[in-house]
Amino acid sequence: MKARVMVIAIFLLVCVQGLLGGLRVTGVLTMSQDPSVLAPNIWLGVVHGVLAQCIFALFVWLSSLMSNAWQTPSELTSKKDRLFAHLLCIAMLLQLVLGALYRHMLGDEVLATKTSHLLYTHIALAAIVLILAVIVGIRFIGLNHRVFKRLGTILLSLVSLQLLLGGGALIAIMIHKGDTIPVYEVLVTTAHQANGALLLAASVTCFVWSVRFKSKGNVH
Ligand code: HEM
Repeated sequence: MKARVMVIAIFLLVCVQGLLGGLRVTGVLTMSQDPSVLAPNIWLGVVHGVLAQCIFALFVWLSSLMSNAWQTPSELTSKKDRLFAHLLCIAMLLQLVLGALYRHMLGDEVLATKTSHLLYTHIALAAIVLILAVIVGIRFIGLNHRVFKRLGTILLSLVSLQLLLGGGALIAIMIHKGDTIPVYEVLVTTAHQANGALLLAASVTCFVWSVRFKSKGNVH
């Protein structure tokens, strides 16, 4: 993909994101500031949250396109490297959607009662994300290229931190009582969300580099 095409795509997505952000608050296209006619939309909030992280991943992809190492590809990655990196991106995206659904539905009195299965699925999928990230991380570290070694190390570090923060977020949610959300819960859940964005971007980066450095006719 050419950097110019990517820049235009990101620009258009940022415009959509702005529109979604406004609609998430008002519910409809309006200039009104009267709370009685505004109805915040949870589902648009979910789409807005997921798209934000996707746009961030595209920015990181763009930075890869513009790096020196990208301009001189060699035949390096096998079909399996690319397959695992691809599966990791899909699992990460699902994980993000589940996390965003859980977080936004929790804010609604009626929907909050239906969120536990989302959280259980999110935790179960975390095991699959972990396995895929470890496979991709180890395979990339084993490749003879400094970018791949670095990507593998970053991926392994981020996924470990994400699991710790996820566990922390869960404990914080379980122990808090009353309506006021304690500061430590805000910190740990926000850190989990932010690190999730880094992990998604790292997974996408691993995939795009694996495709760029594709080797032909490699079976291992
Ligand atoms: C490596 C795997 C994981 C990834 C990639 C991941 C990603 C995410 C993301 C991106 C969000 C926020 C979504 C948003 O609102 O935009 C989230 C929320 C959440 N995740 Fe995870 N997660 C992972 C593992 C876990 C684990 C293992 C647990 C629990 C043991 C967990 C518990 C939670 C909880 C409780 C929330 C909601 C936090 C809140 O209320 O803000 N996650 N996750």
